[in-house]
Amino acid sequence: MHESSDNVFNIEDELSSDAKYQIETLGLTANDFVGEVLDIGAGDAEIAKGFKNKKDVRVVSVDSVVEPENTELVLQQDVRNLQFKDNAFDMVISHASMPHIFITEYDSDQPGSESHVLESIRQAFSEMIRIVKPGGKIYCAPIRIAHNYPAETIVANAIKKNLELLREQGVTFSFTKIDSYTDINTQESYEMYRLVIKK
Ligand SMILES: C[S@@+](CC[C@H](N)C(=O)[O-])C[C@H]1O[C@@H](n2cnc3c(N)ncnc32)[C@H](O)[C@@H]1O
Repeated sequence: MHESSDNVFNIEDELSSDAKYQIETLGLTANDFVGEVLDIGAGDAEIAKGFKNKKDVRVVSVDSVVEPENTELVLQQDVRNLQFKDNAFDMVISHASMPHIFITEYDSDQPGSESHVLESIRQAFSEMIRIVKPGGKIYCAPIRIAHNYPAETIVANAIKKNLELLREQGVTFSFTKIDSYTDINTQESYEMYRLVIKK
């Protein structure tokens, strides 16, 4: 006789190695996932795929760019303007995406692009906080901080300013270094951080 699927269901068997890596980098385990979870900048929705048969968890994936093969899995949304009600999610995650992804918006030939980066990060934080439930948390990692090129410094400063803004607003968060790297040939270096915001 078969056991009921609840008894034999093991989430670790369902998650791809990529999904496991993402969850670990975010500082989480599969058991931390409960209720409605939003994955921002989800790419191929690896985490949602792993949780699709888990009854007590629903992972919703959004990305500003949705590849044709992912249209069933990923909603096309920009983090700066999320199409969800306030307090809709128990938890928000963003692996290798928010907020440093806005480096793509900096162009030294474009006047105003520096303030555009700053404002994009402000909107991203504001939207992520809006859609998570009170008491819920937002996990972003790894956040790449570097100063090898002007664009990297612009983004690093914009992240720092936005974290100062959150502090001024009384938002509770931690910003922890999780890794650092220096290329021995080019001497280029960067640090990786994990941001956890509590609403
Ligand atoms: C490095 S990929 C990470 C994908 C996936 N989370 C992973 O770890 O494999 C960064 C993702 O952020 C998405 N992205 C960039 N800007 C965004 C925005 N404004 N709103 C939502 N997603 C965005 C990109 O399209 C891309 O899929």
